[in-house]
Amino acid sequence: MERSQIDAVIERITSTEDPSKGSARVKEIVNRLTRDLFYAIEDLDIQPEEIWHAVDWMTNTGRSNEWGLVAAGIGLEHFLDLRMDEAEAKAGITGGTPRTIEGPLYVPGAPESVGYAELETEPEIGAERLYMQGQVKDQDGTPIPNAKVEVWHCNLKGMYSIFDTSQPPYNLRRSIITDSEGKYKFKSFLPVGYSCPPGGSTDQMLQALGRHGSRPAHIHFFVTAPGHRKLTTQINIEGDPLIWDDFAFATREDLVPHITRYSESEAKEKFGIDEPFASINFDFEVHKEKEGVFDAEIERTHGPR
Ligand SMILES: [Fe+2]
Repeated sequence: MERSQIDAVIERITSTEDPSKGSARVKEIVNRLTRDLFYAIEDLDIQPEEIWHAVDWMTNTGRSNEWGLVAAGIGLEHFLDLRMDEAEAKAGITGGTPRTIEGPLYVPGAPESVGYAELETEPEIGAERLYMQGQVKDQDGTPIPNAKVEVWHCNLKGMYSIFDTSQPPYNLRRSIITDSEGKYKFKSFLPVGYSCPPGGSTDQMLQALGRHGSRPAHIHFFVTAPGHRKLTTQINIEGDPLIWDDFAFATREDLVPHITRYSESEAKEKFGIDEPFASINFDFEVHKEKEGVFDAEIERTHGPR
């Protein structure tokens, strides 16, 4: 079909809309996406069997609650980050700690403490101890007391509490309020990388694309402070071979902090700590809120559906 014939079909469909009803925004988006889909079907000669296979795939993706993974895997969530970066840059907001994707596994309501937290509700056997610490600052380098650092990561099986009900609720999820010097610190362990559920919708799609569905080890953060823009970010665990081969495209420059390791004797002598540990120093630099820029607090559903 010619473009003009496709446009005529779209015209016939949209002519059934009542201008006084519904949402102008939804009409605009759905009709644009429908037109683009029809063009793609024509250009690529997509066959009916392929369409109905895709409908089945989408149905299964929803049933297994994998749309969040698909959004990460096709780079959609990363693309939204790049657009937010661009919008901020146009408003003169640049620098600071880079944002990167939230992913689908944040849950609100984690236990809150001031200055310091221990992330393990139950001890993780065989893990490498981690202490991570730093300051929350504004773009002038001024420390921000009473900022909230929300942190979450997976266990050594690559699973997140709440979604994985074999773990205690909120295991490896905490909210740390920075102290009077803007400092935070937590005790946990180095998490591992993980993969999309084997054989699931995301895995099927990525295999068909000749890609893998694995992420390097990482730790997620939200940083919020009154009068400042919310930061959504992650750090990667230095040395992970997938750091620059993340299926979700979340790795960014400045988000791979150096890890310093202390032996048992060093830990004891220098810090009075009874076990060897890895240490990460990382400061979060956030921006002052500015009028006329999009709200960095993105509304979306959190937790298991
Ligand atoms: Fe994650």
